Amino acid sequence: MRTSILIFIILALPFSSVFCQNKNVLAIIPQPVSIHMESGNFHLSNRTQIIFSKEIDTAFRNLSTELLKQSYPGIFLRQSNTGSSTAIIFSLNKNRDTLIGKEGYTLKVSSEKIILAANTRCGLFYGLHTLLQIIPLHRAASSASKEILVLIPCVTIYDYPRFQWRGFMLDVCRHFFSVSTIKSLIDEMAAYKYNTFHWHLTDDQGWRLAIESLPLLTKVGAWRVPRTGGVFMELQKPLPDEKATDGGFYSQDEVKDIIRYAASKFITIIPEIDIPAHSLALIASYPNISCRQLPQYVSPGSPLTEAEDNVLCVANDSTYLIIDRIITEVSKLFPAPYIHIGGDEADKIFWDSCPKCKQLMLDKQLKNGAELQSYFTKKVAAIVASKGKKIIGWEEIMQGGLVPGAVVTSWTSVEAGIKAAKLQHYVIMAPWDHGMYMDNSRIERSYSFNPVPDSVDAKYILGGEACLWTEEVPNAREMQRMFWPRSLALAEIFWTQPANKNWGSFLERMEGRLPYFEKAHIKYSESVFEPIITYVKDTISIKKIKLTTEIKGLSVYYTFDNTDPDSFYPLYKGILLDIPEGATIIKAISYRNGKPIGKMVTKTIMSVQQEEQHP
Ligand code: ACM
Ligand code: ZN
Repeated sequence: MRTSILIFIILALPFSSVFCQNKNVLAIIPQPVSIHMESGNFHLSNRTQIIFSKEIDTAFRNLSTELLKQSYPGIFLRQSNTGSSTAIIFSLNKNRDTLIGKEGYTLKVSSEKIILAANTRCGLFYGLHTLLQIIPLHRAASSASKEILVLIPCVTIYDYPRFQWRGFMLDVCRHFFSVSTIKSLIDEMAAYKYNTFHWHLTDDQGWRLAIESLPLLTKVGAWRVPRTGGVFMELQKPLPDEKATDGGFYSQDEVKDIIRYAASKFITIIPEIDIPAHSLALIASYPNISCRQLPQYVSPGSPLTEAEDNVLCVANDSTYLIIDRIITEVSKLFPAPYIHIGGDEADKIFWDSCPKCKQLMLDKQLKNGAELQSYFTKKVAAIVASKGKKIIGWEEIMQGGLVPGAVVTSWTSVEAGIKAAKLQHYVIMAPWDHGMYMDNSRIERSYSFNPVPDSVDAKYILGGEACLWTEEVPNAREMQRMFWPRSLALAEIFWTQPANKNWGSFLERMEGRLPYFEKAHIKYSESVFEPIITYVKDTISIKKIKLTTEIKGLSVYYTFDNTDPDSFYPLYKGILLDIPEGATIIKAISYRNGKPIGKMVTKTIMSVQQEEQHP
């Protein structure tokens, strides 16, 4: 009797959470190289054992076991050395599978066993994360049953990444984020097979890394006067005698802890020390290394004018002594082979009016500020090389001539990356206007980006980065909302083979992941559901309003009378809307199955018209 009830409940409860709506498609992101669904299910229960091949170390065994246990609260799984009727087996390949390389894996779920195999522990880790994505949120047995039973669909997956550099970048200067927030972000990114954390540690609004030989960097440079709300870069500058109480920094012990933590999740950390510009916090700490050598304050998000001398003097020996001290400690602290030295947005006005910089240009026969920047970059690259590391820089390091061996992060355009690749330099693609910056454009724009333009040799494109600048990101919840779900799209760009990318399928799989974000209390943006308001020409070239959504099949209700629409208001039926006489605002909201979904969008008619002119 008990058995038949159990079977009935198993059959009656679909394991909807691992499949996408209405389809036999598993909600896996990034999409693997190949997936073959088979009939039947593996029964994950309290009797399931986890078996590791002998070479797998204890730390990895414990991490994997812990992640599996977290996937289903209350489930009792234990490590074992012998086979049992129901087991998850982690196996390192005895004969290397050359196609899957260092990071690939095979995952075979049959009704008796789950076998995960890879050449490396890293491959097993990624295979485990794919497995975790197909463990449903809901048990199959009734809660009255003592045995937790979760059904995992039988499937064979073969997988490996497209790019070796699957990065995410976080600016911790405009706003500071705690060690535990950084670790949580590392967990979230590792779950979607990101492998590189580009840590933007220094900027005009804060120096965040303890350099023991330069204590003022964190005594002065890590702190600014507090400002809350308002538009960043339009905030009020410090008042006379106002105390700098806002900010923070990472001690070297904290950094080591984060590096170890990231390494256990197969994530390499690339520190960024952004010089010669974006250096106001450094200059506030050591004013003698700017051209004018005047006292400065760490910017609290106030405008940077010519009075805020945020660029290092490149003709001052002290500048290079300080950089040497910084790079000495950074290169000891971070095991990665690269140090990112920034190089972006150096305003040349400070050098142009500096007698020392002008003299240096004459002495070295440098024609302009761009060549002076190149002179600086070469000197910094030599310091970095003397510590056994290589440089990465934002694309501006190409100005005035590129240092041999430098890796270029393109950010203003794809063309910058193309130019660097044609010069046979390795490139990290992060063009903001293709949705690689988390605060720009629709997710579809991000998803459609191909980091390898037709005109370049693919071997020079290491991969790309999801970049989050945090001027308008004051806390960890907002940081999550900015990264997710857009970073799912980027995870797929960086991992999935182009032939397996599909926007419609991605949207379905992305929706399939959202309940997992909710379960983990990770905030995400609902913008894919929200109405997109555009101004377009109709068939006789009259401009009208169009309402769409990225997720299809939603109902959109709207108003022009400045009241908040709900499902009793006009429904958008796909016919372009005339703007009523006198209307200054449009509001729209999406509904699905009779319930609102996503936030209401409010726009001025003028902004809709302007966006049409400047898409
Ligand atoms: C940048 O966005 N300034 C690299
Ligand atoms: Zn100077």
